[in-house]
Amino acid sequence: MSGDGRTLASDYMRFAKLETGARYNLASSGIADLDLADLGVSLTDLALNGANAYGHAPFIAAIAARFGVDPACVVAPGGGCSFANHLALAALVSPGDEVLVEDPTYELLVSTLGYLQARVRRFPRRPEERWRLDPTAVAAALTPKTRLVALTNLHNPSSALAEASAISAIAGAAASVGARVLVDEVYLELTFGAGKARTAFAEGGNAIVTSSLTKAYGLSGLRCGWILAPAPLAERMRRLNDLFAVAPAHVAERLSLIALGRLDGLRARANAVLAQNRAAYRRILGDHPGLDQVVFDQGTTVFPRLVDGDGDAFFARLKARFETSVVPGRFFGRPGHIRVGLGGDPAMTRSGLERLAEALRV
Ligand SMILES: Cc1ncc(COP(=O)(O)O)c(C=O)c1O
Repeated sequence: MSGDGRTLASDYMRFAKLETGARYNLASSGIADLDLADLGVSLTDLALNGANAYGHAPFIAAIAARFGVDPACVVAPGGGCSFANHLALAALVSPGDEVLVEDPTYELLVSTLGYLQARVRRFPRRPEERWRLDPTAVAAALTPKTRLVALTNLHNPSSALAEASAISAIAGAAASVGARVLVDEVYLELTFGAGKARTAFAEGGNAIVTSSLTKAYGLSGLRCGWILAPAPLAERMRRLNDLFAVAPAHVAERLSLIALGRLDGLRARANAVLAQNRAAYRRILGDHPGLDQVVFDQGTTVFPRLVDGDGDAFFARLKARFETSVVPGRFFGRPGHIRVGLGGDPAMTRSGLERLAEALRV
């Protein structure tokens, strides 16, 4: 924090970057990294420089076609879903604006809003309700001053999938006070059928969506990312980005366009990894008396509560004695929980889960 109350750092991001390294890494929420060779790229597909003043037009057209929206509604600034969130929030929120954010949520949404000097209020997602997105909880927390409601779908940390009807109900309630809804759909990618992408964004509506290819496909290194927003708002974001990153790395846009053409295969790979890891989780930890939890059929993470203990102390012991890392629930405002990632290499993940079970015993 600075003297004027702005948030100037994310403790979570620093932790994620510097503290999670372990032989058995269950801290990541993404799918194991892909090799460049897996994209089947040849050097002639690439170019170092190209026309991308407001993004590489073929890439923007491909995202627009994928979601059935006008290319004018697509902003592709690079920097992953992280920068998509930052740019979208910066365009939507002025200092002092009231923003209603799900609780728990991805920490960066809250710290970025703190940087933007928003007045953050929270609405609950409850474990006893399987972390569901409850429109009545949002409606109860909305005030005439609310400018924005922010949420994740799939939910980070729990992986709960929100029903389209719940998001529409929230968008309707937000519209009644003149607010918009930001939906971070970075994990929704893994729930798409072949050739069938879905989004909460609709032209003419009040939902803005962010996403990327990073978490679902092992393509974090491309730092691809996009925002879907009504055209005038999308234009405001493009203009604002002239003050920030200006333009994405062109070579990454080229690679992202190639990856877009292969997503069905990459998703099948990711879902095969997740199916193995989820089965291992259920086998090793699913009925563990030391964990109070919901294990969903989708998503890359599980968010159990330690029946007996504290997430930070457990993390320290797990890492020091069992060479395994998870994310302590403190970073989601739930110190009694841990977040366990299921997107890693299956052999590594199985060993990590076995170690986690052992750590619960001692
Ligand atoms: C909900 C959510 N949004 C965005 C991000 C950032 O994604 P990216 O790697 O595309 O910047 C993450 C990363 O963990 C996330 O969990």
